[in-house]
Amino acid sequence: MNAIETKDLTKVYSNNFTAVNSLNLEIPKGSIFGMLGPNGAGKTTTIKMLTCLIQPTSGRATVGGYDVEKNPNEVRNLLGMVPQQVSLYKDLTVMENSQMCADYYGVPKDERDSRILDLMELVDIKYAKDKRIGQLSGGQKQKASLVASLVHRPDILFLDEPTIGLDPTTKRTLWDLIRELNDDGHTIILCSHDMHEVDMLCDNVGIINTGNLVAYDTPQGLKDALLESNRQEITEALTKISDESEKSVSQDDLENLSLKKMSVLLKSRDDGIIETISKSDNVKSVEVARNGRINLRIDSFDDMAVQNVLNDIISSGGIITSIYTEEPSLEDVFIKSTSEVNEDDRA
Ligand SMILES: Nc1ncnc2c1ncn2[C@@H]1O[C@H](COP(=O)(O)OP(=O)(O)OP(=O)(O)O)[C@@H](O)[C@H]1O
Ligand SMILES: [Mg+2]
Repeated sequence: MNAIETKDLTKVYSNNFTAVNSLNLEIPKGSIFGMLGPNGAGKTTTIKMLTCLIQPTSGRATVGGYDVEKNPNEVRNLLGMVPQQVSLYKDLTVMENSQMCADYYGVPKDERDSRILDLMELVDIKYAKDKRIGQLSGGQKQKASLVASLVHRPDILFLDEPTIGLDPTTKRTLWDLIRELNDDGHTIILCSHDMHEVDMLCDNVGIINTGNLVAYDTPQGLKDALLESNRQEITEALTKISDESEKSVSQDDLENLSLKKMSVLLKSRDDGIIETISKSDNVKSVEVARNGRINLRIDSFDDMAVQNVLNDIISSGGIITSIYTEEPSLEDVFIKSTSEVNEDDRA
């Protein structure tokens, strides 16, 4: 079953600007969904429609089976929202804001304060519980916003760039919290520009560009698709090059697409080994960094390339202390999926 479904969901703002354009989206219940997209792509607008803060211009959306236009109250009762701009009452304290939210959602009075204090402890903001929101730092406000939006244990939680401005420790705490909530069956919709965060947490990722969904898959699926599309581009480019008449394909572009990064650190530097590796057919370039790492560009389409390089090192007596290879990242997918933009659609 889907927690969220949209059908041709569209938002045209009063200045006639189309921020979301016929969006069709399905987010399975109990999943963590990552919404990616460049600034101004329409992510916050989509979330605002799904959380009944603004009305769609056309199309429809259901949240937990309820239509956002016909049953906004039922939808609001199901969801929690950590907005991009903290929207708490500046003159009330952290505690008072959370209590107000809890009361709004009908959290039982005898549980209310202990739930709030537990959440405060979890995100480390209890020490500031009696401070007014207006007196808090950016990260502290973000934490207060989290407590207020989680106190009624919403089935569906929207997080619009929740880790922006959080220190690394709190960020990790929030990631753990997102996983815990998800383990308990909550559906999470996470908008973020942090690719690592999305890659690590999300079951599915949707990339939105100028109000349209341009990619939707698991993080790994998106990366595999990029690799496959690179393969196809290379094959096509190679065909053109062999044609000799086509000079527009840059050899550099082609090489960049077809090479994979590999980096090796040896126990002690050995110029003989470096020379051996550079002669390997699989290795297209070798560079030794100041810290001693041997950075290689290897043929990404030869499944044996990594193995061959390692065999060369080991058979030359090298001791490997660290090794990594770099596959296409979610960031690569993001850049590729959002690179083709019609400037008229952004204005
Ligand atoms: N109230 C409004 N009136 C007119 N246009 C708006 C309004 N709110 C947003 N927009 C426009 O709609 C587009 C989408 O905005 P939105 O806030 O949904 O983007 P976003 O994907 O959340 O971006 P970001 O990553 O910067 O948060 C932008 O071009 C923005 O200028
Ligand atoms: Mg936004």
